[in-house]
Amino acid sequence: MLNFEFKNPVKIIFGKGQIVKIAQEIPANAKVLLLYGGGSIRSNGIYDQVISALAGFDVIEFGGIPANPEYEVLIEALNVIKKENITYLLAVGGGSVIDGTKFLSAAALYQGDEPWDILKNKIRTDKGMPFGTVLTLPATGSEMNSGAVITRASTQEKFGMGGPGLFPEFSILDPLVVKSVPQRQLANGITDAFTHVLEQYMTYPAQAFLQDRFAEGIMQTLIEIAPRIQKDPADYEAAANFMWCCTMALNGLIQKGVPTDWSVHAIGHELTALFGIDHARTLAIIVPGHYRYNFEHKKEKLAQYAERIWNIQEGTADEKAELAIVKTESFFHSLGIDTKLSEYTGDYQGTAEKIAKRFTERGWMGLGERKSLNPDDVRKIVELSY
Ligand code: NZQ
Ligand code: ZN
Repeated sequence: MLNFEFKNPVKIIFGKGQIVKIAQEIPANAKVLLLYGGGSIRSNGIYDQVISALAGFDVIEFGGIPANPEYEVLIEALNVIKKENITYLLAVGGGSVIDGTKFLSAAALYQGDEPWDILKNKIRTDKGMPFGTVLTLPATGSEMNSGAVITRASTQEKFGMGGPGLFPEFSILDPLVVKSVPQRQLANGITDAFTHVLEQYMTYPAQAFLQDRFAEGIMQTLIEIAPRIQKDPADYEAAANFMWCCTMALNGLIQKGVPTDWSVHAIGHELTALFGIDHARTLAIIVPGHYRYNFEHKKEKLAQYAERIWNIQEGTADEKAELAIVKTESFFHSLGIDTKLSEYTGDYQGTAEKIAKRFTERGWMGLGERKSLNPDDVRKIVELSY
């Protein structure tokens, strides 16, 4: 096991009817900016619950943060924060609203001239404006981590940011919110969380037995609840387990003491930036090709995953490992997720070269758990995903 430090300060308030507890978490004298997305919270009743919980607080609203939170929209929110002397941010939404709020938390206290530099120059945020979240869509884990991903449509860029100052102070996880989530987003959430586990697991053996079992437990639970939640998003027990799996998949715990990959995300973000494909779907496109291209480096863990997750006991280690990739593709398909780029766009020729060029220009060398993948490897992985 590798050395590690672990600190996660996010207070999780989990369960039915917990949105009312916002009031006990936000300082009474705060001037609050309530941030949300395109309006789903107005039709599913979450907005009303939040507004009644905030009775007595000084609150201003900013709605309209789009999926893949857009920089230009967030700059409008930043102007509101400054003009209204906001002191506390409350995100009510999925990963996009929470990530947008993290950007605003950082940008509100940023001393430089151009907030885009936080993203372009990967400036770490040690202190941000305090914020809390009400999660409406299990998927990203953003509710219990300190990272965010922001998009700029004008330049077709999508960059990550983060730092210890960007953990939410609290996150309310009420599984009842899942009942209004559309099928497309349910499939996305399962796929994103599953791939978060894969990114922290499908590397090489590190003798971290407990972390492996944590990771396998999350994947097994996601596989178990997937048909239930897709059949009936109002199935509370399935929703509760789905939500907690998504949070646990990316709150830092399972990556401690083990090597991590994250190439699938790095490449996937480019597919969202270029084509607007949903985040989770870009991961399903890249995973199979990435594992086949890096088969020699990953086959021991692939074989362990084959045995423990897919119960493949016959054959050589190589055969088990290859079958595990096929099983993973089938799992994505069972959710209704296509795994080839050409199934999302007819305009895919040249994508591999384009992404490799971008990585070269940004100096993104040494991807993957062995820091061994260069832009030419990335090109070949994307070609396998056409
Ligand atoms: O905007 P509204 O109207 O609220 O609708 C949203 C949105 O259209 C809808 N939705 C959310 N909760 C709902 C609901 N509809 C009905 N009922 C509810 N209860 O779902 C749509 C998608 O929402 P979005 O927040 O975009 O989805 P998701 O949570 O998958 O977030 C994706 C974003 O997170 C980033 C992705 O790159 C992408 O930008 N990620 C963030 C990570 C992190 N911070 O740790 C890690 C991830 O790997 C990922 O990169
Ligand atoms: Zn993800």
